[in-house]
Amino acid sequence: MSKILEIKDLNFSWGNNHVLRDINVNISPNELVAVLGVNGAGKSTLLKCINRILKSDSGSINLLEQDVNGLSLIDLSKKVSYVPQSVRTSFSMDVFDVVLLGRRPHISWRISEDDRDKVSSTLRSLGLEDFSFRKFDQLSGGERQRVIIAKAIAQDSSLLLMDEPTSDLDLKNQLETMKSLRKIISNKDAEKSALIAIHDINIAARFADRILLLHNGKIFASGTPREVLTKDNIAEVFSVDAEIIDNAVFWPGGSDSLRVIIKDEITSK
Ligand SMILES: Nc1ncnc2c1ncn2[C@@H]1O[C@H](COP(=O)(O)OP(=O)(O)OP(=O)(O)O)[C@@H](O)[C@H]1O
Ligand SMILES: [Mg+2]
Repeated sequence: MSKILEIKDLNFSWGNNHVLRDINVNISPNELVAVLGVNGAGKSTLLKCINRILKSDSGSINLLEQDVNGLSLIDLSKKVSYVPQSVRTSFSMDVFDVVLLGRRPHISWRISEDDRDKVSSTLRSLGLEDFSFRKFDQLSGGERQRVIIAKAIAQDSSLLLMDEPTSDLDLKNQLETMKSLRKIISNKDAEKSALIAIHDINIAARFADRILLLHNGKIFASGTPREVLTKDNIAEVFSVDAEIIDNAVFWPGGSDSLRVIIKDEITSK
């Protein structure tokens, strides 16, 4: 199967601020990739370039072997769904209808039973069925974030771009949401992938197949959580002293057993 995403030599600047420098990224089907980096590192900018919200200065971005710039908006939204870092829009709609908006790229003349079924099953899989007929603008911040994630999942695209999708969620909802995403991405029949910007290093360690560490506009490190989340990398990129606890001996396989404990900031080098 072809690559879901292939980025070559991507550059993006805001005026003199060269935010992304010669970025190369490949994502295969069934891969969940986390993007980590400090505030302002360029995580959101990267996601927005892929989604064509921003136009890159140079380089190429291919989705399922097609140049994003050549895709119609409908085709782009069949291939990519996007959960923004903050949702400012305040839909005065039922939750069910907000999630149904995710089906728009698939709807030709009228909403089908399939579309409604997809919305119902997505709400169910995220434990949101009791919210179906609540008004979106009367939900809490975390509840809204879960609904926006449901909308992106209902869109049924090949690549899920998510910008800090768990930032407003409580501990249990963070785990449940990441487990649901992991299940969708791991499903070999569907061949979907996800690129998720996230600050929680332990969520990334546990759920990501690969981590991209953005630093000074470049990919400073890329690889499995175990390869990337080293004490030295964390010190260099985040200026904090970390202790890495790896219990792989007890729980072999996966990264479930990798834990990063942040001890203190590093004030001088
Ligand atoms: N509209 C804009 N105009 C000018 N500069 C911008 C704009 N949006 C972002 N930037 C700058 O681009 C750089 C990258 O921002 P970006 O939002 O991609 O960072 P980020 O890694 O997502 O950070 P955070 O963790 O805070 O979300 C920052 O230096 C930021 O100040
Ligand atoms: Mg951001």
